[in-house]
Amino acid sequence: MQSVSRQLSCSGKKIGLVPTMGYLHEGHLSLIKKSKELCDITVVSIFVNPTQFAPTEDYEKYPREIERDNSLIKEYDVDYIFVPSADEIYSPGYQSYVYVNEISKKFEGEFRPTHFKGVTTIVSILFNCVKPDMAFFGQKDAQQSAVIKQMVTDLKYDIEIVVCPIVRESDGLAMSSRNIYLSSDERTKALTLHKSLLYARKLIEGREMDPQKVIGNMKMIIGEEKSIKLDYVGIVNAYGFREADLIEEGNEYYILVAAKVGNTRLIDNELVRVQF
Ligand code: PAJ
Repeated sequence: MQSVSRQLSCSGKKIGLVPTMGYLHEGHLSLIKKSKELCDITVVSIFVNPTQFAPTEDYEKYPREIERDNSLIKEYDVDYIFVPSADEIYSPGYQSYVYVNEISKKFEGEFRPTHFKGVTTIVSILFNCVKPDMAFFGQKDAQQSAVIKQMVTDLKYDIEIVVCPIVRESDGLAMSSRNIYLSSDERTKALTLHKSLLYARKLIEGREMDPQKVIGNMKMIIGEEKSIKLDYVGIVNAYGFREADLIEEGNEYYILVAAKVGNTRLIDNELVRVQF
């Protein structure tokens, strides 16, 4: 991969990287489309990264269907699929990690304390293998995108990070490889998360400027669904991911939610530009 990328860069090609853990859906495909639009060469990586899963999480059972992914990727005329093995990435004696301090501790970081260290380490390795000019991430994992942007700024990677909007099912459920874990009853209940986000947006658009009131309303909606176990609801400034004390006109915010529906942990968010 490194020698291919070196040659491509030398011949002046602009390389786009779409990092994924496979089991591709329309969300991933939207990132591929964006890369094809903005770059000469698109590389899709597929790697279920062990270091971003805690021992209690779903690394073993994470869906892997490389043949299906390959045929989807072929339809999109992707130039390279990079599928390294875990041994190639983390060879025996491996001992280097990348950690972004503050942003990694909040929200997802509270519930998955080792997660972002694994993400920033693998993304950093993928950047060094593929040497992209641009890399494409989804707003679905808004905090992940913010952590990676911080890493790119701090470590001076010469790579433009492009964040693409959330792709949803027709009923509003955010697409995720983990949705296959949901029973049909759980899938219906999971819609409550998106419903609470839309309600929060409506409140803000109706000039509710107190984040705690918006959060309180969301908790009430989610609380009505007894089988949902809420991890957190939050409102952060879209730039820097700091918790908002006040919602202000002219700013952009992510409204965040994470919860367990049955045994499946789901995250979702809504980006709100406050403009009256
Ligand atoms: P994965 O969950 O496979 O997601 C790969 C990329 O697809 C991420 O940038 C994610 O935000 C984006 N994505 C997922 N669902 C989406 C949706 N419904 N709409 C838009 N984009 C969506 O995120 C990871 O893998 C890993 O942490 C990775 C960055 C590959 C590092 O291992």
